[in-house]
Amino acid sequence: MKIRYLGQNGFAIQFNGYNLVIDPFITGNPLATSKINIDVLQADYILLTHAHGDHIADAEIIAKINDAVILSNFEVATFYERKGIKTHSMNHGGKFDFEFGTVKMVNAIHSSSFPDGSYGGNPSGFVIWNNNECIYIAGDTALTLDMKLIPMTCPKLSVAILPIGDNYTMGYKDARIASDFIECNTIIGSHYNTFPVITIDELEATSYFEKYGKKLHLLDIGKAIEI
Ligand code: NI
Ligand code: MN
Repeated sequence: MKIRYLGQNGFAIQFNGYNLVIDPFITGNPLATSKINIDVLQADYILLTHAHGDHIADAEIIAKINDAVILSNFEVATFYERKGIKTHSMNHGGKFDFEFGTVKMVNAIHSSSFPDGSYGGNPSGFVIWNNNECIYIAGDTALTLDMKLIPMTCPKLSVAILPIGDNYTMGYKDARIASDFIECNTIIGSHYNTFPVITIDELEATSYFEKYGKKLHLLDIGKAIEI
């Protein structure tokens, strides 16, 4: 799979020939606006982990340009369904076989309200797999023992996207423990450097993972990695 970083928790993933966009936050993110052109971003599905503005900001416009399906929790999916967008709603613990692969919605410890304060359901992560590859997108979350359920209930992970910026989510040291829980040594960091309170020392974070024999990839916004 090819994973391109869009900034914050945003990613464009080519998975099994389909284009999945995760948590797009580009127009409101000064770090991303000059590097990502949302008008040409291809999306078959847009996966939203929760309703916070730094995760859903560009979902509507990208969905409309591409006639894409928004996949999220019931409350977020219903919000977009009312706008005439195609949606697929899920809830925690459930999985569904899509044309590109299987998606399981998993727990995340965080909150989820829309920018106007209205209820956004509960936040989630996603595990996505097909016969040869499997990715965990944690979303905004604390370190939680629930992560230990992932290797028990899903195929072996090829890669995981974990938040590392601290303050609103776990920091990189907790993310290293999370990588043990999920039994995955190839990690892509997210949710850092976008705001002053989540600024990290990138070298410190990557060396910390190295010390444990793990690889933390910190992608430049707009750049992609093939896993
Ligand atoms: Ni959030
Ligand atoms: Mn966030």
